[in-house]
Amino acid sequence: MTDSPESAQTQAMLASVPLFSGLTKAQLRYVVQSAQERTFAPGEAIVRQGDKGIGFYLILAGKAQVERHGKPVASLGPGQFFGEMALVDDQPRTADVKASAPVRCLVLSSWEFWSAVGKEPEVLRTLFKETVRRMGADRSGLTE
Ligand code: CMP
Repeated sequence: MTDSPESAQTQAMLASVPLFSGLTKAQLRYVVQSAQERTFAPGEAIVRQGDKGIGFYLILAGKAQVERHGKPVASLGPGQFFGEMALVDDQPRTADVKASAPVRCLVLSSWEFWSAVGKEPEVLRTLFKETVRRMGADRSGLTE
């Protein structure tokens, strides 16, 4: 089966982002074909702090702002991801993520996310590295 131009473009984009660059072409095609693309308008909430997490988001285009307790903590752009934490530990969302400009995301369900993670140890490593970074460069997120 040949890919649509949009699907081929998304696969090329994913091949260039650190999270998925270790996947083979067939694996990238599988991820793109099983995931959904969604767009969000500026100001729109994509995930909300405290909600149950059901999806993982990879930004294809645009910008999103991460806020904890209403305070901005990070700005994310193309190739960056969010929504992994609630899927990893099955706890509520740790932050609000809002579109700060029109944003287009690839959304993976929990099942699709774990399937992609399980395909290649490098995906897990990149995810883990970023999670540790997000917990605080000074490791302040560690329990005593
Ligand atoms: P999750 O808790 O599922 O939903 C909110 C998301 O915001 C979280 O996963 C991370 O992906 C993201 N997030 C939370 N804190 C930070 C941070 N300090 N820097 C970047 N992203 C963050």
